Amino acid sequence: MAQYKVPVIAGDGIGPEVIAEGKKVLDAASEVHGFGLEWIDYPHGADHYLATGELISENTLHELEKYKAIYLGAVGDDRIEPGILEKGILLAMRFYFDQYINLRPVKLLEGVWTPLKDKGPKDIDFVVVRENTEDLYIGIGGRAKRGTTRQELEVVRKLYKVKFDLDIDSDADEIAYQIGLVSREGAERIIRYAFELSRERKKHLSSVDKANVLPDIYGFWREIFRKVAVDYPDVKTDFNYVDAITMWFVKNPEWFDVVVTPNMFGDIITDLGAMIQGGMGLAPGGNINPDGTSMFEPIHGSAPKYKGMQRANPIATIWAGAMLLEHLGEKEAANSVLRAIEQSLKVGKVRTPDLGGRSKTSDVGDDIARIVRTLGK
Ligand code: IPM
Ligand code: MN
Repeated sequence: MAQYKVPVIAGDGIGPEVIAEGKKVLDAASEVHGFGLEWIDYPHGADHYLATGELISENTLHELEKYKAIYLGAVGDDRIEPGILEKGILLAMRFYFDQYINLRPVKLLEGVWTPLKDKGPKDIDFVVVRENTEDLYIGIGGRAKRGTTRQELEVVRKLYKVKFDLDIDSDADEIAYQIGLVSREGAERIIRYAFELSRERKKHLSSVDKANVLPDIYGFWREIFRKVAVDYPDVKTDFNYVDAITMWFVKNPEWFDVVVTPNMFGDIITDLGAMIQGGMGLAPGGNINPDGTSMFEPIHGSAPKYKGMQRANPIATIWAGAMLLEHLGEKEAANSVLRAIEQSLKVGKVRTPDLGGRSKTSDVGDDIARIVRTLGK
């Protein structure tokens, strides 16, 4: 019998509540499908940070590196300045483990309301492949007051190291700047992954950029896309400016199959994607390194105001759990979790308030776990 050890970072706010339901459903799937799951809980998040000063240490990262997949709730807390936990824990793990693929399915399930009039599950079914380590997210920038300033900035990745040595000469009162970076290797590997994924789907890949205004960085992205496309003549492709694609997601979501995007635009368009698939409570994501440690999480945040209220919808987390199982190679179990989510939503009796119901977070987990058991092997 296959045995998997899975580190869990439940995190802050509603994180622990939704993760509890994810574990419940995955445990049920492991019993039915005959494999073992052992959860290894990690305390990282706001309380741990306030108590110990640790966000996530090199030691912890190193220890986590021996696992194939991490299950993550959410980080973020009102007591701590915005960005500290997000950068110090979530982004730190994405970068450390070189999880260059951020996979975000945008799929409207049967029985779920979408704000798009006249659109249904057949129309809203695509996947966003978001680059997850580069672009404006490299976190390199600074400020300079009038006069001359010298700044050395460094980006350290598994793939490369880049140093910027800046001589700033400015007569503005004060400036702030942020550097975005796209590397040939970084863009090529994510675009190639997206092409491969399109081959398993409808063979249609849409690229997102803003090459009309930012030609250096996104013209480069486009150039690399064109080059990789030569290897996939059977895949239909198109280029979309990011502003325009938000319009098409709303007007004609049925056009899309696989969408590949640089990091920042991917962040923005996947919140829009979440809304058209029924809301943040239903949107899962995977941070994937095919040869290393991946991490699965709902794309929503920690929603501190709902902490402990059993109001949060755990489906995004349960769905992320299904992606985790698929990543571990338990494809049938993953499918059964997704089918159970669909069935529960279709029947529509057990729903959290975001979907118009009155059920508790744990009721939804119970219902989906029960369906996983009735579906059987
Ligand atoms: C997401 C989140 C993160 C991001 C934040 C919390 C750092 O918004 O996963 O989309 O910007 O990537
Ligand atoms: Mn986001």
